Amino acid sequence: MPVEAPEAENIKVVVRCRPMNETEKSANFRNIVEVNQVEGSVTLSNPNGSEYDPPKTFTFDTVFGTDSTQLDVYNLAARPIIDNVLEGYNGTIFAYGQTGTGKTFTMEGNRDIAEQKGIIPNSFAHIFGHIAKAEGDKRFLVRATYLEIYNEEVRDLLGKDQSVCLEVKERPDIGVYVKNLTGVVVKNADDLDRIMTLGSKNRVVGATNMNLHSSRSHAIFSITVESCEEGFDRKEHIRAGKLHLVDLAGSERQSKTGSSGQRLIEATKINLSLSTLGNVISALVDGKSTHIPYRNSKLTRLLQDSLGGNAKTLMVVKEVQNLVKIYLKKEKKKLSPRYTEKKHFLRKKLRKCKNK
Ligand SMILES: Nc1ncnc2c1ncn2[C@@H]1O[C@H](COP(=O)(O)OP(=O)(O)O)[C@@H](O)[C@H]1O
Ligand SMILES: [Mg+2]
Repeated sequence: MPVEAPEAENIKVVVRCRPMNETEKSANFRNIVEVNQVEGSVTLSNPNGSEYDPPKTFTFDTVFGTDSTQLDVYNLAARPIIDNVLEGYNGTIFAYGQTGTGKTFTMEGNRDIAEQKGIIPNSFAHIFGHIAKAEGDKRFLVRATYLEIYNEEVRDLLGKDQSVCLEVKERPDIGVYVKNLTGVVVKNADDLDRIMTLGSKNRVVGATNMNLHSSRSHAIFSITVESCEEGFDRKEHIRAGKLHLVDLAGSERQSKTGSSGQRLIEATKINLSLSTLGNVISALVDGKSTHIPYRNSKLTRLLQDSLGGNAKTLMVVKEVQNLVKIYLKKEKKKLSPRYTEKKHFLRKKLRKCKNK
């Protein structure tokens, strides 16, 4: 029997640092992030810290510096997941970070300029490139769905009526699903591109301000690839892999943005989904947890079949402060010696002052 990889190995966390934008440059912002691509680490210095505050280093599966290209990110981080989906596994790719850190740029990018295409359009070309090269009598069926979760309500971005909220259901044979969600059969990468444009337009129609709205809702574009071929036993063998490509809401702390009323309700719901997602990932990486809290939010319920088990997950973290939270569990051992060191250093200094 094949030995199954521990679940932690199925979850990869990569970090991408975007270059400073013009506003940040003209305000003379200091760069406090140092990326070491060889070691896969990011070092942060505290801009307000004292000289005794040593920089903090965090290590990840892969890190991408400010000069990384869309293709670098695709080839190193996303490609293996899509390859697995084509083999019949489920996979999820999402970007996590505050608004403005480059989540949409990494996931979607600029679909009209070849070198600026993000993970989603590159995956379309990859899937249909694979199908075109398939040998023998292998047949494929590719379907896509596109939904949005806003205030813990699910809307079908490919449906006729954007005001309808859909129900999340569960059945023993198919697992968790969204009732009446539109599934579109696609024949090529252009079809996928077209329905993504249509869905994104519907996302705008339902919102008064697209930027504000997209930073407060989660969108899941899902592609199911089924393949069918005749085996040596002359029977038909079917494989199905599902890929979830997720554009998450911004992870900014709402206490910072001073939300109230409707904004506060939104913020609470966004935080519920993001913190549940964080808890689910932590529990999966931990490997010892017997309970994975998928059911605590719509987002994690819908991603359930593609996060645990044999599924592969890629998390692109776009903002470094948040890493601390997610990695705190793992880094605890590393953090404590550093604090001990700092404590000793300060004690010594204090003694010196007293002796003077
Ligand atoms: N790696 C990058 N290189 C160049 N520009 C980037 C990069 N990442 C993000 N940007 C730019 O920064 C801005 C904010 O990015 P965006 O993807 O909209 O952030 P988010 O979706 O996290 O709110 C956009 O104008 C985007 O084009
Ligand atoms: Mg965005």
